[in-house]
Amino acid sequence: MTIDLDRIDLSTAAPAEEPARQFYFLAKCREWVKSFEQKHGRPPRSHVTTFGCQMNARDSEKLEGILKNAGYVEEPDEKKADFVIFNTCTVREHANQRLYGRLGQLNRSRKQNPEMKIALCGCMMQEAEVLEKLKKSYSFVSLVFGTHNIYKFAELLWACLDADRMLIDVWEDTDKIVEDIPSERKFSFKSGVNIMTGCNNFCSYCIVPYVRGRERSREPKDILREIEALVSDGVVEVMLLGQNVNSYGKTLEHPVSFAELLTQIEQIDGLERIRFMTSHPKDLSDELIEVMGNSKKICRHLHLPIQSGSTRILEKMNRRYTKEQYLMLTEKIRRAVPDISLTTDIIVGFPGETEEDFQETLDIVRRVRYDAVFTFQYSKRTGTPAAVMEGQVTPEVMKDRFDRLLAEVQAISTEVCSVHTGSVQEVLVESVNDHDPALLTGRMSNNLLVHFPGDPSLIGKLFSVRLKECRGFYYLGEGGHVLT
Ligand code: SAH
Ligand code: SF4
Ligand code: F3S
Repeated sequence: MTIDLDRIDLSTAAPAEEPARQFYFLAKCREWVKSFEQKHGRPPRSHVTTFGCQMNARDSEKLEGILKNAGYVEEPDEKKADFVIFNTCTVREHANQRLYGRLGQLNRSRKQNPEMKIALCGCMMQEAEVLEKLKKSYSFVSLVFGTHNIYKFAELLWACLDADRMLIDVWEDTDKIVEDIPSERKFSFKSGVNIMTGCNNFCSYCIVPYVRGRERSREPKDILREIEALVSDGVVEVMLLGQNVNSYGKTLEHPVSFAELLTQIEQIDGLERIRFMTSHPKDLSDELIEVMGNSKKICRHLHLPIQSGSTRILEKMNRRYTKEQYLMLTEKIRRAVPDISLTTDIIVGFPGETEEDFQETLDIVRRVRYDAVFTFQYSKRTGTPAAVMEGQVTPEVMKDRFDRLLAEVQAISTEVCSVHTGSVQEVLVESVNDHDPALLTGRMSNNLLVHFPGDPSLIGKLFSVRLKECRGFYYLGEGGHVLT
């Protein structure tokens, strides 16, 4: 959707309906930027920092879209920026500590640029005690907003530009999904697409349902329209995003299953690859497995978090499947999609986890033989049921189990990943290699990276590559030919 901001009449009051209201404030921000340019002889500079998951990364593209449309230029060094925004994560305590550390640092460098505005948004801002702490000890922050009103960023930006005190706008929840807010993509050839927000699962350790609110799905027609527009703008791969994509569409007025949505997306001409995350094992349907088995575009990769291999712990985690059910599910998926790569998330040290429970986790890792495992030490999140459960595991035991699990998963995934050596694979060329400019980096359907010699003009194209050598979690390859 393109809107001519210059044609918006700013002499009238702001419209009440969305997204027109945000375009009105965007035009106002543009006026402000013009006067800044006149005063300083340069446009204002902005810097966006993102913590957390892919959904936050996609939200940040919306923040960047607003800033760019307002006339800000991106400044890679946050210390030199006039507007700095942190899109925060609070899934583990460590994430919160990192933010406070960064804020402290930035406040010191603000001495050189006293006009710098600092804004905070995202999941961490949904916590009452965080807001209290910010008001008390971080009063130099100009703007704070949460996860439910990010669509209002243009309006909030405008309000904070001339304000001299901290502006806070955090909502407890919302039933609103605002479409058509401009966004700035990081990659020209691939993009995340939010298909739903929030989570209703309330896993007992997890803070996400409290900070992201109730599950809401976007209408299929809005999702399809967004993907069609992305494809006509050069995108060949989409990543459908949601905390639990397998329960997509259940709350819509006319319910649509995730498998049905995928079938519709598959039909979009010019779209080559479809990825999605995250899948919750309890909602992964036979219909979805069938669609994946028959699809030409859905990538051969499934991220299926197990969290623990112990049925007893899974029950305390409120995950609603057993170790056996999970194993049966992975077997069924592998029968339907034999070359699929499986990855997972595991938490060690959940309250009450014994050595026997931990052995069950090691056992499932050995049985499933994952391509990759993201391992976490349990982090206590205030307000979640697990925070007050008995039998909190000591940091020493947690660390010991974490190290043992890591050694096991690394040994297995090195073996699993190397099975493709010698084969020819289709990769989507993503970038010039960070360490060696003669090499390109491409991503296989199963999500593994391949580095191979090639010309940067191949970026964004599907290319066939022969895998010469496996280096643990990536391959070295040699190029063949362009596929698209
Ligand atoms: N919705 C996704 C996960 C989102 S959070 C799902 O259900 O799979 C990403 C991962 O962070 C989780 O899978 C879990 O492994 C981890 N995680 C969440 N809360 C945590 C906590 N309190 N301590 C440690 N790890 C946690
Ligand atoms: Fe958290 Fe569970 Fe929801 Fe994932 S499904 S976001 S782990 S509550
Ligand atoms: Fe973090 Fe929020 Fe994502 S808590 S993991 S950024 S949903």
